[in-house]
Amino acid sequence: SQAEKGGYKHFMLKEIMEQPRAIEDTIRGRINVSEADVVPEEIGISVALAKSITRVYFVACGTSAHAAMAGRYWVEQLAKLPSTVEIGSEVRYREPVFTPTDLVVAVSQSGETADTLAAVKAAKAQGAHVLAVANVLDSAIPRASEGALYTHAGPEIGVASTKCFTTQLAALLMLAVYLGRRRGTLVQDEARRVLGGLLRGAHDMRTVLEQKDKIQFIAKKFHRSRDMLFLGRGTGFPIALEGALKLKEISYIHAEGYAAGEMKHGPIALIDEEMPVVVLCPKDAHYEKTVSNLEEVRAREGIVIAVCTQGDAEVARLVTPSISQIPSRSPRQSFALSEPDVVEIPEVEPEILPLLTVVPLQLLAYYIADYKGTDVDQPRNLAKTVTVE
Ligand code: G6P
Repeated sequence: SQAEKGGYKHFMLKEIMEQPRAIEDTIRGRINVSEADVVPEEIGISVALAKSITRVYFVACGTSAHAAMAGRYWVEQLAKLPSTVEIGSEVRYREPVFTPTDLVVAVSQSGETADTLAAVKAAKAQGAHVLAVANVLDSAIPRASEGALYTHAGPEIGVASTKCFTTQLAALLMLAVYLGRRRGTLVQDEARRVLGGLLRGAHDMRTVLEQKDKIQFIAKKFHRSRDMLFLGRGTGFPIALEGALKLKEISYIHAEGYAAGEMKHGPIALIDEEMPVVVLCPKDAHYEKTVSNLEEVRAREGIVIAVCTQGDAEVARLVTPSISQIPSRSPRQSFALSEPDVVEIPEVEPEILPLLTVVPLQLLAYYIADYKGTDVDQPRNLAKTVTVE
């Protein structure tokens, strides 16, 4: 009913807008500000285990696997542990190798995904330790695991996951900080910087959500596209994958997410004046490289939608359509003459970026799907929870 949707047209839009609250609920009581630490009892694995593991092995499906990819980068960066991400269905049907010093982190909104659960069982059979990151209390995956770190997103109704994704990111960042502190790889000042960023994350996310009308405007321009490409580096790579997944799930537009550095190994062949390329280029350690990818797209008359840091005049200038993209040359793209398609992200700690850059991509997918008139909350052929293999 309309009341259940909180006045929004779809659950998905309601859930996108709920994200700052979901993040606050997920981190509440879990951060000890004065100690610049995460509260150990809240994370689901003991201090002894945190110290003794030799690898973190993430297993997940769909959107949860994209959160896991960001988690992997953070575990490497903050806890200096070897880490990998595997898709549930791939783990269960090959001959994976686990050891008793592995920490397997199973990420699942529902906690019921059959392939992820099967991977957990395979890992346990070889003596690995298992931590579940789930949104549904006492679901099958947490029950099969030694510990659970719950996200507190509240029930997610839209089939395409949004608020569960960003709360998974928040939970995994806390996990990485916890491991880094226990293992002595993360000094207190660094932990304070990262956790401070996370504590301000909900506020920063509201700033991004305020641009929803602008994103709707961009969606209107591009909703007739046949294909779309998403590029990012670092934790922007899983966000590019997630942006592409959101778009294909609900708008049925073919979309691909790529590590921006891989563009030259294939996707650059696809660039023409018909295909929008969403470039995630906030001011982080990858900025220069990603902006040069953006320039490569523009040099081939490609259309760019940029997600960049507030006040980045350089990106705005690069994204502005060139004179050769005038309507007479390409009538279908007559919109290209107008202002640059840029969404701005506040300046935040780099670890917080993926929580923010995903928001415009969720909204872009949502509004494109709405313009196309698809069944946003119940896209064809998809299920919220896949309990079959
Ligand atoms: C389905 C849903 C996705 C979800 C995936 C994994 O494909 O449509 O939104 O990301 O399952 O689900 P899980 O509950 O394990 O996170």
